[in-house]
Amino acid sequence: MIPVRALAAPTRQCLRTAAYQQPRWAIPTLQTRSYATPAPDKVAKFKGTKGSDGNYTVSLIEGDGIGPEIAQSVKDIYSAAKVPIKWEPVDVTPRLKDGRTVIPDEAIESIQKNYVALKGPLATPIGKGHVSLNLTLRRTFNLFANVRPCKSIAGYKTPYDNVDTVLIRENTEGEYSGIEHVVVDGVVQSIKLITREASERVLRYAFQYAKDINKKKVRVVHKATIMKMSDGLFLSTARDVAKDFPDIEFDAELLDNACLKITTDPGPYQDKVLVMPNLYGDILSDMCAGLIGGLGLTPSGNIGDECSIFEAVHGSAPDIAGKGLANPTALLLSSMMMLRHMGLTGEADKIEGAIFKTLAQGKALTGDLGGKAKTSEYASAIIGNL
Ligand code: IPM
Ligand code: MN
Repeated sequence: MIPVRALAAPTRQCLRTAAYQQPRWAIPTLQTRSYATPAPDKVAKFKGTKGSDGNYTVSLIEGDGIGPEIAQSVKDIYSAAKVPIKWEPVDVTPRLKDGRTVIPDEAIESIQKNYVALKGPLATPIGKGHVSLNLTLRRTFNLFANVRPCKSIAGYKTPYDNVDTVLIRENTEGEYSGIEHVVVDGVVQSIKLITREASERVLRYAFQYAKDINKKKVRVVHKATIMKMSDGLFLSTARDVAKDFPDIEFDAELLDNACLKITTDPGPYQDKVLVMPNLYGDILSDMCAGLIGGLGLTPSGNIGDECSIFEAVHGSAPDIAGKGLANPTALLLSSMMMLRHMGLTGEADKIEGAIFKTLAQGKALTGDLGGKAKTSEYASAIIGNL
């Protein structure tokens, strides 16, 4: 761990900038806001749209491959649990417009209207010009914080049973900026873009999230010893944001050390929220998912200024698609994050309890967890445990 103080402090003035610049892919009509000072009249709206019948409408991107099957489990369990949600199916089959991958306007409108979406796996179409649809969605809605809790699951044996941490990944820039070019034949350059604005908003979100879920510490994971300017900016911004959260302890750890330590003993990470630039979060979150049983068991949420998309980050598993064998747990647990985000905590507690009970009982597990149950049998077992 390097002493945080050794890094240059950013000017306070920059941190006081009222609104960060919209990245080039943002939808111009969306307003930005700081999580430190949310506009009270808007907060509820961001958490979903409730109709006059008392139901919230949520955009549902079922996704490709096993997507529709695992989405069906979510729908079945939600109707059995009487969750006040109406699903609005959304087709995000991409179009190429002026050489760029865009998602259909109707899909954008649905998510903008409902503020909340649940998403299954999306395969990126093969062909010139198409970039990952997952990334297109994150960019389109400026989903700046990717929240990935990682917690051991009773009943599914892994080398450790005490994993309980949360990774928050900057989700709009860093190595994912897509700025790459050929300098001369045989030499390419890829730009890792780090801005104080994007760093500050994800860091603020991480501190606020830690407070909300009663974690005592926020730890920045970085490589500022090498990436002195880019990770240095992320880290020094964190130091400044930390001053606004005196109840939360703040420290920093080098990425390689964090990998070594958490795989050696996850215990010391239990009281922490880990926050980091984009690519580090991508890699570290898969590594941590491996500690608890894989991507089939880990939830994820992409939080934006207005809209949020909760998604299973595993693949679309075309080899087993349509066979009723898929494990819907990651999508289900992502939807639990969604319910809590919307303030439907009672419903989340009830369904989550039933999911964990079913996993712990071990009687109706899908093949990937060593069981023989079909997707629908696993869902029925959860419903039975509600
Ligand atoms: C994830 C995925 C995506 C990423 C892919 C599908 C583009 O691995 O959500 O972690 O790299 O961010
Ligand atoms: Mn990933």
